[in-house]
Amino acid sequence: MSSLAYAESLIRTIPDYPEPGIAFRDITPLLADAGALRAVIDALIEPFAGEFDVVAGIEARGFLLAGAIAIAAGVGLVPIRKAGKLPRPAASVSYALEYAEATIEAHDDVAPGARMLLVDDVLATGGTLVAAHRLAAKLAITVVGTAVLMELPALGGRTQVGDVHAVFTA
Ligand code: PRP
Repeated sequence: MSSLAYAESLIRTIPDYPEPGIAFRDITPLLADAGALRAVIDALIEPFAGEFDVVAGIEARGFLLAGAIAIAAGVGLVPIRKAGKLPRPAASVSYALEYAEATIEAHDDVAPGARMLLVDDVLATGGTLVAAHRLAAKLAITVVGTAVLMELPALGGRTQVGDVHAVFTA
């Protein structure tokens, strides 16, 4: 079995979490395995190697991947946070959830024109990543790639976000 296939086998599906009918993809067993973690970080970076100056991770699980990518690729990191968590947000974008609204924010610590890789753990409806692209645009940051550990194609996120590199598909 390849190291990536082994990494995929470590993703645990938890039925009826966080509510009945939802099959939650738990990546913590993968994160806990050094070889599997290294394999997925390399796979997330691979199509964009040498093309980005900074990586942005989306709260919260995107942070875990972005931190490892930053070190592996030798670039800086921008956290994209949920509303109210940053002391001085420079840009903010709100987007619709099924029955509510969410907001993400970022600081402007990266120079305009920086080449950014956007990273999250899961692509579902795509609402979060579309909002992240709008956030980067507000900060005059060029998004050169979007990468997720796992895409859930049944939820149609790719049609919203456009070109996304997904390491795994569920
Ligand atoms: C999850 C996931 C993505 C987002 C994907 O985040 O980590 O960020 O949903 O869904 P979408 O494509 O439909 O927008 P969640 O809000 O559960 O945050 P967490 O990482 O803090 O658990």
